[in-house]
Amino acid sequence: MRIMLAPMEGVVDHTMRSMLSEVGGLDRCVTEFVRITNHRLPAKVFYRYCPELHNGSLTPSGTPVYIQLLGGIPEPMAMNALRAAELGAAGIDINFGCPAKLVNRNDGGSVLLKEPRRVFDIVKAVRDAVPKTTPVTVKIRLGFNDRSLLDDICAAIFAASANELTIHARTKEDGYKPPAYWDAIAAVTEKSPIPIIANGEIWSTQDYHNCVVQSNCQDIMLGRGILSCPDLARQIKSVHQQTGKPILEWPSIVRLLDQFCSVTAHEYDHKYVGNRVKQWLGYLRRQYGQAETLFESVKRLKMPDDISAAIGQHQLSLNKDDESPLPIAV
Ligand SMILES: Cc1cc2nc3c(=O)[nH]c(=O)nc-3n(C[C@H](O)[C@H](O)[C@H](O)COP(=O)(O)O)c2cc1C
Repeated sequence: MRIMLAPMEGVVDHTMRSMLSEVGGLDRCVTEFVRITNHRLPAKVFYRYCPELHNGSLTPSGTPVYIQLLGGIPEPMAMNALRAAELGAAGIDINFGCPAKLVNRNDGGSVLLKEPRRVFDIVKAVRDAVPKTTPVTVKIRLGFNDRSLLDDICAAIFAASANELTIHARTKEDGYKPPAYWDAIAAVTEKSPIPIIANGEIWSTQDYHNCVVQSNCQDIMLGRGILSCPDLARQIKSVHQQTGKPILEWPSIVRLLDQFCSVTAHEYDHKYVGNRVKQWLGYLRRQYGQAETLFESVKRLKMPDDISAAIGQHQLSLNKDDESPLPIAV
């Protein structure tokens, strides 16, 4: 079984990929989507979305990173996929799931699920353009308004020779409203010639168990669940492989957050650092009660130094005897 880290625009950047993959349990990451219109993008765009290209398309701990492309016209998608492959991308992922109005109005993301023929043309063009050794994967929802085209969409993707398919188990119309309909994936898995990766609403090891049983998939993708519980992939593998790896307690998570804050402060304009840290704390609040206290103390702070100091204060207030090693290498 494999666990993938979901692409999440504005949330899962290379710093987050680096931290979460180092915590452990992840087999692959995917970049935020690169929007493709008519042009061949310069190499610097791909390096910006995927700095891991400087490291053989691997996170520092060695997890492969695929570059995600989003667009509705086959030729530029193919041209840019080839460029990404030439720059050394470990794989190309094609986004047919994005529900954003702006993206859909501009002929990208989930709106293409209304036209399986176009899905075929895009996937085929990309598959034909990149070397056989570069995997081409596809990410979809169950449909746009409803699931009536799911069979046709998947048949198009298989016929275009994609290597793998991730299914976020909801339609565009369902948005992000629970539940995710894992059972709807099972009909695809049954007749699929390629691996199917189940995605959506996996927040715990119990959800993982329910998802694999209902979807009949071996592989899964984690998004918000692993942001609220950074060692979720490790927990799942530990249950699955019975390795009994220890679970990260709150003090270790705070140290991760502290690292995240300082790395992000080096890489982004200072005014964005607070948002990034608060955004992650927002996810952590779901799993860790103490995240609420820390969120309250940083919520009005803007400068990275102030936020870092507040995290430091919070660490002091935690059990001072906690001498456990850092959860990941710095
Ligand atoms: C803030 C946010 C940004 C996202 N950005 C992307 C993206 O760039 N590409 C993509 O294919 N999916 C994107 N997604 C969808 C996720 O990859 C995933 O399919 C979805 O969140 C369901 O999985 P989860 O319940 O594990 O979070 C995004 C989701 C969220 C919440």
